[in-house]
Amino acid sequence: MDYIKYEIWKRRSALEFLTIALSKGRILGETMELFNRIKMHFDNVSEDSRKLVFEFKDYDMRLILSKPTDVPTFVEHGVADLGVAGKDVLLEDRKDVFELLDLKLARCRMVVAVPEDRAPGVPIYRVATKYPHIAESFFLKKAQPVEIIKLNGSVELGPLLGLSDAIVDIVATGHTLRENHLKVEEVICPISARLIANQVSFRLKSGQIQELLGKIKAVV
Ligand code: PRP
Repeated sequence: MDYIKYEIWKRRSALEFLTIALSKGRILGETMELFNRIKMHFDNVSEDSRKLVFEFKDYDMRLILSKPTDVPTFVEHGVADLGVAGKDVLLEDRKDVFELLDLKLARCRMVVAVPEDRAPGVPIYRVATKYPHIAESFFLKKAQPVEIIKLNGSVELGPLLGLSDAIVDIVATGHTLRENHLKVEEVICPISARLIANQVSFRLKSGQIQELLGKIKAVV
C-alpha cells in the first residue's frame, strides 16, 4: 500500500468503523466471551496474535489489541472510540475519558498486603507498587506518611527482599500472595473492567455506541 492509499484507508476506517481498544492479558478472554454473548463473533482475536488491528466489516467495527495500561491513552487521544480497561488503570492514570459501564469482568481487589508474619499494628514506612497514585492517595487519606517505591511488576518482591514493608497491588485468586508469604492487610477498593469512551466519539458516533451499549447492558 503506498502512502496516500494508506492515509485514505486510515481516515476512512476512523470515520466508518467503531474502533475499540481491548486490553491484552487476562481481561481479553472474558471480553471476547462478552462479545459472544451479544452474538458478535470476532474470529482470530486472541492473546497470542501478533496482529494488532482487526477489521470486521460485517459489524463496522475495528478492534485493536494493546497493553492494558495503554487502552485509556488510545481512547483519550481518539484513535479508539471505545476501550475496555481495568478500573485499576483508570484510577491510576486518570485519563480524560468517559466511563460508560462496569462490565463486571476481570474482577479483583486493590489491596495493601504485608508479610504473613508481620505483627498487627506495626507501622508501614515503605510501599512497593505498580500503582503509585492509588497508593499515595490511599495513605494520604489515612494521614499516614509512607515512601512509595514504583515497580513495574512482581511487586511481591518488595517485602521478600526487604525493599518495602508492604505492597499495594491487585489480588484476584490470592495465589501470588500465598506463594510469597504475604497476606491482605486492607482492601482499598474492588476492581473490574470498564467500558470507556472518547468524549468526542461519544457524541459523533452516539448511534453506534448507544446500540452497542444497549446490547452489552442487556447481558452484563
Ligand atoms: C497481577 C498482580 C499480582 C497477581 C495477582 O500480576 O500484580 O501479582 O496478578 O493475581 P492472583 O491473586 O490471582 O495471584 P500480573 O499477573 O499482572 O503480573 P505482574 O506481577 O508482573 O504485574
